[in-house]
Amino acid sequence: MDETLISTINKLQDALAPLGGGSSSPVDLPQITVVGSQSSGKSSVLENIVGRDFLPRGTGIVTRRPLVLQLINKRGTNSNSDNSLIDIKSIDADGKKSENNVEEWGEFLHLPGKKFYNFDEIRNEIIRETDSKTGDKGISPVPINLRIYSPHVLTLTLVDLPGLTKVPVGDQPKDIERQIKDMIMKFISKPNAIILSVNAANTDLANSDGLKLAREVDPEGTRTIGVLTKVDLMDQGTDVIDILAGRVIPLRLGYVPVINRGQKDIEGKKTIRGALEDERKFFENHPSYRPKAHYCGTPYLAKKLNSILLHHIKQTLPDIKMRIETALKKYQNELQALGPEIADSPNSIVLSVITDFCKDYNGILDGETKDITSLEL
Ligand code: GDP
Ligand code: NA
Ligand code: MG
Repeated sequence: MDETLISTINKLQDALAPLGGGSSSPVDLPQITVVGSQSSGKSSVLENIVGRDFLPRGTGIVTRRPLVLQLINKRGTNSNSDNSLIDIKSIDADGKKSENNVEEWGEFLHLPGKKFYNFDEIRNEIIRETDSKTGDKGISPVPINLRIYSPHVLTLTLVDLPGLTKVPVGDQPKDIERQIKDMIMKFISKPNAIILSVNAANTDLANSDGLKLAREVDPEGTRTIGVLTKVDLMDQGTDVIDILAGRVIPLRLGYVPVINRGQKDIEGKKTIRGALEDERKFFENHPSYRPKAHYCGTPYLAKKLNSILLHHIKQTLPDIKMRIETALKKYQNELQALGPEIADSPNSIVLSVITDFCKDYNGILDGETKDITSLEL
């Protein structure tokens, strides 16, 4: 039931996309938005959650347009049985699974019907599409929409955003800091946004611009989750235990420490599977983290995100339902006023798609509201 719920939310998101989305959309659907300084590891965290290499990543401002990433669980022959977001066993040790694997593919909204089975090509398309809408090192608030179908992910929507930066380079406008801030605020100020605040563990949390923005829009910290990257790069003898214990900047949903691949690992072609294994060993063997190793690392972060998302969707269901019904009524009235002769116009096709999804949605909703169980976070 939970899976159906999230996939219906995703269907609605697609159905509503032709209507313009954004502020004109009748519903603000829940999604997880990644926020943090440039090079704090945002794109790396997303890749680890997906379990695949497909994002442009590295030093400098690499992510220059928002990427709305819908992960869709598609049951295949090796379906994910333990219900974790990523299935480490499914990634081949040599990382070669990316080539011509018919079980997993990506599709861009701007290239309808084209399936990308090779994740290197997905990365190239993101870079090509970014460059086509931005100048040299410039940024644009127009999102790129990508769906990834796989039996090894849980259905979930994530948004990768450009990192907060202070100093313009290349052709970047002088006010780039404000432009990026505005873009981030547009995404995270929606009450339905879950904020994934990414901070490098080897920098001072008190100076985190991402966390400052998150606190502006979510002062109670009810929809902000902290991620501490680069734990492997901390000075010997230091750790993030004080942050995890809520003694530095407490967040109600807490922090999860993770280790992504460094630049050297990427150059040395370390696979994500290898990286996840190394991450697990690091936390299990480290004297500070060993007693709590179960609450550290990417697989735990992924599970936590999924349950936060479900909890959030369930809390906002009544409001979403009301908004859809209001919008539906409005469109149905408009449709009636237009008369029957244009029944096959593109507009009415969009409307009938929405009508179908709303029916679908209401069916699920009726089942859901009977049986809302409180989620363990
Ligand atoms: P973004 O700009 O926030 O999206 O950051 P990226 O994901 O592009 O990462 C920036 C750089 O930091 C890359 O060279 C990554 O390899 C490196 N990096 C990210 N996370 C970690 C980590 O946990 N440990 C180490 N050693 N390097 C990391
Ligand atoms: Na970067
Ligand atoms: Mg990035």
